[in-house]
Amino acid sequence: MTAPLPDRPGAPDRDAPEQAYTDFTRSLSYGDYLQLDVLKSAHRPVTTAHDEHLFIAVHHVSEVWLDLIIRELRAAMDQLARGITDAPQKGLSRVVRAQEQLTNAWEVLKTMTPADYLQFRDAFGQASGFQSASYRMVEFLLGNRHAVLLRPHEHRPDLIGPLREAIEAPSVYDLTLRLMHARGLSVPDDVLSRDLTLPPVLNETVLEHWLTVYRHPETYWDLYELAEKLLDVEDNFRRWRFNHLTTVERTIGFKRGSGGTSGAGYLRRALETVLFPELWEVRTRL
Ligand code: HEM
Repeated sequence: MTAPLPDRPGAPDRDAPEQAYTDFTRSLSYGDYLQLDVLKSAHRPVTTAHDEHLFIAVHHVSEVWLDLIIRELRAAMDQLARGITDAPQKGLSRVVRAQEQLTNAWEVLKTMTPADYLQFRDAFGQASGFQSASYRMVEFLLGNRHAVLLRPHEHRPDLIGPLREAIEAPSVYDLTLRLMHARGLSVPDDVLSRDLTLPPVLNETVLEHWLTVYRHPETYWDLYELAEKLLDVEDNFRRWRFNHLTTVERTIGFKRGSGGTSGAGYLRRALETVLFPELWEVRTRL
């Protein structure tokens, strides 16, 4: 190996920071492009408590990841609706990675003690993640649907409109079952034309079809891969829920939630949610 030749004496040092662009009077800078002033202007603690900053930052970051997840899920669902099976895998893989970031955020938030939290708790009154429209959208797209969860958004037509649309449209799992049907594994009518505003219920025929797929992955490779990817998404969703519950218990114990639910009890029950029932049951039957 020969060392690279030094630049001629007196020649400009190409690696020096002075070579970077510095005049942004006529072109977009980093901050302009990313609208950092707008982004940061939303970060406004209402108390002087040190940890309120952390609390707001973790919520903001989580909301940004949730919006990315919605975008990727919608793109994957659009492809599924058009009968494309390989492309959605890429989008769903990205969803899985983004979920990991969401779940990791608890590690930072967990450094806040109950006493730290109490210094600013009263400042946000009845506000709660329960009212997160983006979180609810993710749940609706994945199929966890309960019309009562639309209520906190009734005062915001811009939020409730898309949520209502999503709760009445096929979920990612409904689209997967339609694809299964199109592939010759005949899905019963009562599943295909089910009330979409409700969560899915395990169906024996669908379960039989998944058994066929899992016993013959080489014949149904795309469905098999899709099923495993969906399971990754649900697996990660469960981790997020579990970490949220643990963080809540260590911060507020069993106090009522700011959003009006029983708090930890409500979140514990949510751990029982099953998004893709046959994909879990197939493991038992194989
Ligand atoms: C120490 C911090 C936190 C506490 C004490 C807390 C507490 C709670 C509680 C008690 C609930 C139940 C609803 C209610 O308020 O009555 C809830 C729901 C929720 N929280 Fe948090 N939370 C915290 C942090 C976060 C963060 C960082 C996020 C990120 C977005 C978040 C998102 C949510 C969501 C989406 C729900 C609704 C869950 C569902 O309906 O299944 N929370 N939270």
